[in-house]
Amino acid sequence: MAAKTYTLEVVKQHNKPEDLWIIIEGKVYDVTKFRNEHPGGEEALDEVGGRDATRDFQDVGHSQEAKQMLKKYYIGDLEVDKTVKLPVSVRFCTYWCFLFIRIHFTNAIIATTITTNNNTNIG
Ligand code: HEM
Repeated sequence: MAAKTYTLEVVKQHNKPEDLWIIIEGKVYDVTKFRNEHPGGEEALDEVGGRDATRDFQDVGHSQEAKQMLKKYYIGDLEVDKTVKLPVSVRFCTYWCFLFIRIHFTNAIIATTITTNNNTNIG
């Protein structure tokens, strides 16, 4: 069965000591019950509640045992944002290129129509 996925918006809401989720490497963990068993203290987990704690978790240099413990609190994956966000510069260029092409073709069509009409009138 596919893992349950959560958006960042949803995870963000679980940032209280009595309802505490964290994200580590794209995986979502419910650490509410683990909070007062954490050897690094409750505050360490409270601080990262509802957000990505990958950096914080790695910076401490947690043992293999700690990494194994993660499985116990895993509840699903963070939903990946699939929308492609192009840099502003690319969007700016694309906009002006399309506008230029549109104007150019419109002008070409108008010019062709006028020429054709003129030719028809002469003939
Ligand atoms: C579900 C997630 C986590 C688990 C299962 C976990 C588990 C553990 C364990 C077993 C230890 C004892 C030392 C070791 O074995 O490495 C520990 C220590 C510690 N943890 Fe975590 N931890 C988690 C998340 C975090 C996060 C997100 C932070 C930081 C914000 C953090 C900060 C610390 C600190 C500061 C220590 C004490 C290190 C020391 O005294 O040397 N932990 N943790």
